[in-house]
Amino acid sequence: SGYRIACIPGDGIGVEVTGEARQVLDRAAERHGFRLRWTEFDWSCERYTRTGRMMPEDGLERLAEHDAILLGAVGFPGVPDHVSLWGLLIPIRRAFDQYVNLRPVRLLPGLVSPLAGREAADLDMVIVRENSEGEYSRIGGRHNPGTPDEFVVQQSVFTRRGVHRIIRYAFELARERGGAVCSATKSNGLVHSMPFWDEVFAEVAAGYPDIPHEQCHVDALAARMVLRPDRVDVVVASNLFGDILSDLAAAVVGGLGTAPSANVNPERRHPSMFEAVHGSAPDIAGRGLANPVAQILTAAMMLDHLGEHAAGAAVRDAVDAVLRDGTVRTPDIGGRATTGELGKAIRDAVSGP
Ligand code: NAI
Ligand code: MG
Repeated sequence: SGYRIACIPGDGIGVEVTGEARQVLDRAAERHGFRLRWTEFDWSCERYTRTGRMMPEDGLERLAEHDAILLGAVGFPGVPDHVSLWGLLIPIRRAFDQYVNLRPVRLLPGLVSPLAGREAADLDMVIVRENSEGEYSRIGGRHNPGTPDEFVVQQSVFTRRGVHRIIRYAFELARERGGAVCSATKSNGLVHSMPFWDEVFAEVAAGYPDIPHEQCHVDALAARMVLRPDRVDVVVASNLFGDILSDLAAAVVGGLGTAPSANVNPERRHPSMFEAVHGSAPDIAGRGLANPVAQILTAAMMLDHLGEHAAGAAVRDAVDAVLRDGTVRTPDIGGRATTGELGKAIRDAVSGP
């Protein structure tokens, strides 16, 4: 059997780490007896500077023919970030109803959390971020610009369907992990949207009497993630809160070089998109300094999503084994190896069934 994978390496280190992830995936597929059929798309900010578009007119239709999308990162000096966001990433997330942004955060073997300094086993959380509505809305505007009476309105939009489905996803995930759900709220300050969010949370929670759950104001939760990250399991959060908490969580376990993420359409009606948390890192691009682990763990999430759980676990085990051994590490995690050397070490450590 085979899967059709759309690969969008993007810009900068996106290209470098995606090349490594692809080779690791091919090795895992070979070992586990399935095939990956790749289509590569050069959609990027670099392409935008040549053509004025991030992707061609029929880009979304072409992606729709695939089982999953592996994306590097987009971003290029001189191209404003909103171009890549609204010209590529947001159209893909919205067209394919990727309403879950999933960011597992785990302290990897041999790495030390800069904040907590705790053992690996203690730190294992997942941020479930609402990815389709909420605070990131285009509704609003500026009034009386430039005058002393200027004011700005930025609306949030929360739908019952949207809030319900993301919270339900978090409870299902907690059941799978044998964990607990914490809902990020701020109903003392945001007096319309967050009380509604809390109400839907309580309704959904009533259907999962076996899953421990609580709600926590997002500011207090941020502090807890720094001070007692071992007491956090599945966090469900709105688009804005989830965006902030997931970068915080990545920092708590030692940085962007190892943080994977997925934009998921859980119903599998459309392809999901897998991309590391980090960007294109122009400051280190083209020098072999990028850590490929984030993108390789992202690729493992893609295998899980495709139903190839044994292969996904083999990739994660390979990452763990290489990091535990510690001799091949990129500079961001205290070593001197190149992107390609770490990628190869991981690829060679992928085992079969
Ligand atoms: P960034 O994540 O690219 O880099 C932040 C810092 O972390 C840099 O010092 C970089 O060298 C380091 N870093 C990131 N990934 C690393 C890795 N794998 N190994 C070692 N070090 C790593 O964020 P920044 O600098 O804010 O953005 C750069 C560009 O990337 C911008 O154009 C931005 O819009 C874009 N970006 C794109 C994203 C995407 O495509 N999903 C996400 C975030 C940023
Ligand atoms: Mg972010």
